[in-house]
Amino acid sequence: MTALTADDIRRVFLDFMAEQGHVIIPRAPLIPRDDPTTLFTGSGMQPLLPYLLGAEHPAGRRLADSQTCLRVQDIDEVGDNRHTTFFEMLGNWSLGDYFKQEQIPQVWTFLTEKVGLDPNRIYVSCFSGDPEHGIPKDEESAGIWARLFTEAGVSADQVEVGTEEHASEVGTGGARIAFYSDKNWWCRGGKASEMPVGEPGGPDTEMFYLFPQVEHDPAYGEHCHQNCDCGRFIELGNSVFMEYRRTEDGFEPLPRRNVDYGGGLARIAAAAIDSPDVFRIGLLHPIIAKLEELSGRSYDDETRAMRVIADHLRGATFLAVDGVQPGNKGQAYVMRRLIRRAVRFAFDLGLQENFFPEIIPTIAQIYAAHYPEVGEHAEFVQRVLAKEEQSFRRTLRKGLKQLREYRESGVTGHELFVLYDTYGFPVELSAEEALAQGIAVSDDWRAEFDGEMAAQRARSQQSTTLHV
Ligand code: SER
Repeated sequence: MTALTADDIRRVFLDFMAEQGHVIIPRAPLIPRDDPTTLFTGSGMQPLLPYLLGAEHPAGRRLADSQTCLRVQDIDEVGDNRHTTFFEMLGNWSLGDYFKQEQIPQVWTFLTEKVGLDPNRIYVSCFSGDPEHGIPKDEESAGIWARLFTEAGVSADQVEVGTEEHASEVGTGGARIAFYSDKNWWCRGGKASEMPVGEPGGPDTEMFYLFPQVEHDPAYGEHCHQNCDCGRFIELGNSVFMEYRRTEDGFEPLPRRNVDYGGGLARIAAAAIDSPDVFRIGLLHPIIAKLEELSGRSYDDETRAMRVIADHLRGATFLAVDGVQPGNKGQAYVMRRLIRRAVRFAFDLGLQENFFPEIIPTIAQIYAAHYPEVGEHAEFVQRVLAKEEQSFRRTLRKGLKQLREYRESGVTGHELFVLYDTYGFPVELSAEEALAQGIAVSDDWRAEFDGEMAAQRARSQQSTTLHV
């Protein structure tokens, strides 16, 4: 069968979920509506939090969508073959309806029959249990997986590994089903020990795809395993069995046992075309191709820069669609940072003049087919982004020159503040730039910079008061 594209996969997923009795709900914006605890929608479940905690959803107990997400905490990892700050998460939920017995075979059917992935290359992980809090090992999920693998004629051996570190020290022996501890506990923020009281979470089972063409890199540990970061295994998604809520001294059961499936659309699409590089899929490659055309350079030679630009401008486009404009605080600042970082990387590609008017339409066109709001706001997005590009380009060269003057002295938060205040360099970008140029950066740059910012605010308040 010809490989499905990312657009096909999104459609096939939503159709399949509808057939299974799910109501397809629209994506929530990247800016959470009623959740001040976080700047961005960073996972499929986030907009559904009240319902996972027990409220009745107006559309029922079986829901599915494709949710746009932004995870800025991954920004430094963008540049490898699979990390992006912006991504689409295919999601389906059972709000106290079906559980493991129905959901695991469902995701298996989706991945193997609907997308056509090779069962031989699918590996999974399950929760090894938390005796301290009385949460048992997830034998049930492992048993379901073992049956599905066996029926497909694939080995179904199991191994207990515990932590990720332990897995990389001893390996999993290539076992199909590996039990991990922390890695298979899912909650927002990631760690069970750091969950605030009231936060929901639970054990999860995760699906990975093996790319045998990628050799294990021992820099990531002696042995490769499902959760190894070398890129040989890529996580396609997870099914969270969200049935607990954090209390002062442990966990209590939620009123209902939920399932929260999240699948990375780009990663599943990359698996479908057997490419360990997600930037080769139909949602990203046209942006890369446009960058090649505009710069006259090749993706093979400029891999990291092109990946960063493609990722950041996609994120910035959706932020603009969702009503954010670049600025100095909160979400607006993150948007500014993404855009300015993209411009900085483009500068090194030889794209030293404004190029957003050429590339933003490419991005808008890719997404307008599924997200009509992208097409509707395309001109506005174009204007917002182009304005930000222009204003940063006016000072980019001077700022880079200024930074080079600190070569001997190194920089502290003070110099980083000057670059921010005079040339509009987001502080993280300057720190990164300095390090890339071999310029020493003080350990406390962040605190020093914050101190300068606070002092400037105090000065401007004082002058406002004096003038009134
Ligand atoms: N299962 C999702 C995730 O992995 C949450 O919706 O982020």
